[in-house]
Amino acid sequence: MPRYILVFMKVLVIGGGGREHALAWKLAQSEKIEKIYAAPGNGGTAGMKNCENVDLFGRDPMEEEIQEALIRYVIKENIDLSIVGPEAPLAGGIADRFRAAGLAVVGPGTAASRLEASKSYAKDFMNKYGVRTARSIVCTDPENALSVLRDHFGQQKDTEEPVPLVIKADGLAAGKGVVIAADLKTAEMAVTAFMKENALGTAGKILVLEEFLQGPEVSVLAAVSIKDGKGIILPFASARDHKRRFDDDQGPNTGGMGAIAPVPDFTVEMQEDFKTAILEPTSTGICEEGFDYRGFIFFGLLIQNGQCYLLEYNVRLGDPETQAVLPLLDSDFAGLCKAIDNGTLEDFRLSWKNGAVCAPVAVASGYPGSYRKGDPIAFNEVSFAKSGAVLFAAGAIRSPGGFAGSGLRTAGGRVLSVSAYGANGYDARERAYKALKAVYFEGMDYRRDIGGKAESTAGPFNITESQRSQ
Ligand code: AMP
Ligand code: GLY
Repeated sequence: MPRYILVFMKVLVIGGGGREHALAWKLAQSEKIEKIYAAPGNGGTAGMKNCENVDLFGRDPMEEEIQEALIRYVIKENIDLSIVGPEAPLAGGIADRFRAAGLAVVGPGTAASRLEASKSYAKDFMNKYGVRTARSIVCTDPENALSVLRDHFGQQKDTEEPVPLVIKADGLAAGKGVVIAADLKTAEMAVTAFMKENALGTAGKILVLEEFLQGPEVSVLAAVSIKDGKGIILPFASARDHKRRFDDDQGPNTGGMGAIAPVPDFTVEMQEDFKTAILEPTSTGICEEGFDYRGFIFFGLLIQNGQCYLLEYNVRLGDPETQAVLPLLDSDFAGLCKAIDNGTLEDFRLSWKNGAVCAPVAVASGYPGSYRKGDPIAFNEVSFAKSGAVLFAAGAIRSPGGFAGSGLRTAGGRVLSVSAYGANGYDARERAYKALKAVYFEGMDYRRDIGGKAESTAGPFNITESQRSQ
């Protein structure tokens, strides 16, 4: 007798970055999958055997009109389940619209999406449910914000090294909404730019001024579902993004220059602390707020003196963390997504490979400033295959005719990433950098230290089954 009846699924992945290529790649490994669609997808998903890109004609799935068009497409193609990658369509109500149309979707509705779309809302939620986080003040008026800054820096004697203050725009700001101000002048400039000069549009009209914490950062992605008022958050293996552009965490912030999973210095004690101080109160809060939360959640943690603090929630999977975490997952991802949607996560067991993944990102010349586009991407298939890595396209489009094996051309700042699985962090890192040597485009650059130093030498850790919240 078979253990379950195979039901073939057609799945739509919404989004067009490296995360979405990784989602499509992981789904394609499932024997439950009949076909994958990616809207709009990228050159990577376009090159997948069982995947079709859905042309959005350059429009964004955060637009209501595009969401309605996607609903019609899903109905026409008989697509069984849709997975929303990025935050903007979620904040724009895509999951609510799909559910109202009777369609299965992985992603929270607008009410829960405020946990990412509004930092002041997220802080209120954390404080209400006792989720450990940095102390903060919400300011809606620039004069009030400026006086908080003056108090903060004024209290510190001239001779002391001033304690920085973290200034956060309330709304979605594509990674540009956080300034760590080391002195009053920088802080005043940020407040003026955000609140008075509308540098981020409406996103900067409200600010969260936050205590500065110090320590390593860890990302924990998790699956969430609620059924009959009972919530379950199922955490994945931990990951670490590397946001700064250059090695040794120098240079400007970017959308992410690479990730590793799991994080070797996220100890079992820290994982336990994360569970009690952050994960469990979040689960309680999600239920008590009455959210219909069926999707993913991302905990952006900072570990200070061995204690986990929550810096942010994202209501989706992280990019590039997903590219590092999914290759470690042994469980059936299509089955997991189905369980999220139908509220049966409680019965779902995640299993993880025992090694590590290193996933550096290759960027175009000039990134994160203005960058080159349209360069052919060369790819030495034989050398690449020897590394055992997988390539995930991000800002790369399919270029008919193909160029030196890849069939891709650059079209964005973060062009692609490679994800290499190894027996340990050191092995994964060797393989990832070997893989990158088999790829070339004009101006290609990447950090050389993803998974370096302590990250590659300590043994792997995983969040264990005992750390589920239910
Ligand atoms: P967020 O969007 O809130 O995650 O902030 C983006 C980045 O700013 C984080 O990944 C941290 O590197 C940094 N950051 C945010 N809040 C703090 C804080 N309270 N103390 C120190 N660094 C912070
Ligand atoms: N890597 C951080 C994010 O996805 O927001």
